[in-house]
Amino acid sequence: MLKQYLKQSDPDVYDILVREDRRQDENLEMIASENFVSRSVLEAYSSTLTNKYAEGYPGKRYYNGCEHADSIESLAIERAKKLFGAEYANVQPHSGAQANMAVFLGFLQPGDTFLGMDLNHGGHLSHGSRVNFSGRYFNVVSYGVRQDDQRIDYDAVHSLAKEHKPKLMIAGFSAYPRELDFARFREIADEVGAILMADIAHIAGLVAVGEHPTSINVAHITTTTTHKTLRGPRGGLILSNTEEHNKLMNSRVFPGTQGGPLMHVIAAKAVAFGEALQADYRTYIKQVKVNANVLAETFMERGFSVVSGGTDNHLVLLDVMSRGVTGAVAADELHAVGITANKNAIPFDTQPPAVASGVRFGSPALTTRGLGADEFRRVGHLICDLLENIEDSKAREQVQAGVRELAQKFPMDRFRLD
Ligand SMILES: Cc1ncc(COP(=O)(O)O)c(C=O)c1O
Repeated sequence: MLKQYLKQSDPDVYDILVREDRRQDENLEMIASENFVSRSVLEAYSSTLTNKYAEGYPGKRYYNGCEHADSIESLAIERAKKLFGAEYANVQPHSGAQANMAVFLGFLQPGDTFLGMDLNHGGHLSHGSRVNFSGRYFNVVSYGVRQDDQRIDYDAVHSLAKEHKPKLMIAGFSAYPRELDFARFREIADEVGAILMADIAHIAGLVAVGEHPTSINVAHITTTTTHKTLRGPRGGLILSNTEEHNKLMNSRVFPGTQGGPLMHVIAAKAVAFGEALQADYRTYIKQVKVNANVLAETFMERGFSVVSGGTDNHLVLLDVMSRGVTGAVAADELHAVGITANKNAIPFDTQPPAVASGVRFGSPALTTRGLGADEFRRVGHLICDLLENIEDSKAREQVQAGVRELAQKFPMDRFRLD
């Protein structure tokens, strides 16, 4: 059993994995938080480091046999520091939410107040949702965007900070298509004596190559996922500027919130950071931005309303309700023709979250797949064609054929292990 290939040993699992490969191949992936890792990242992810327990940090482990675990974690740390220009890095968080939890536990006591972006205006679950640890155990005060231009209202953030005196402020989002002004957040944080955490999960790749202003040395702590624009394995990362904060974060990750690190994932993070340090990656990120912009422009040319009137980053929030379709219906209809995206609340949404008025689209995955501006324009038109003709089966067939044609033109087999 131990020597067999999966295909022979467990055809049930094998078949499901093959079907997932096919799904990724045949559909156009436009979920803004997803990407396709390289073959090399996948190889490191599938390595025997998954067998190793390495509680602790390089040079200070609880188990023996960690010499190679030490080497790989040290390399990942060095590459993360270089990539972001940070003094310190912790590469162990299993996920973005775990990274955020470590920060909360480092700077807050249960019941303490923090300021985060409202989930309905683009914030993340771990920035204070009632159903998440952040909203259950801490007192959240939320900020949002202005109604007229749908951009963050920094004056309101300032007023809320002065009124509620949060111990922690979060600058970060899951669905905000505009640049963040980390310096303004820091100014406000300093005025009220708060720690500023930047959660750059979505824009990490843009920050790494200078295509979005950096949070490093502006925020006290930066957290991120490694699997979105950064194009690494699923996981989290914490970056800090001082030894004191690094020590605090290390202790809150392990033993604070986690046990043994996922060493195979850390190996894959090291590979992804190495890739992101190469010139090709900068070209990729520039194209990610161009493609998102083309998508937003196409939607607007076709008369659709785009939240905030465009995008500065990798994501576009389309207000489908303005054309009489709910986010839930739009996302399901798109899925049916092979375009994968998610329904999303838009600011001041009149629909409940499970229905929503918007659909969030991202350019990172399809850009990795090789689609350029012309193809994104085509995808934008296909999306509009569908949403304008939801009841028309002929139109749907045409959209589906267009999706299939594009997917076949950019095959996915190069992203797989043999
Ligand atoms: C801003 C932000 N922070 C944190 C996370 C959580 O990351 P994970 O799903 O790895 O826990 C996400 C995920 O979408 C996110 O968008």
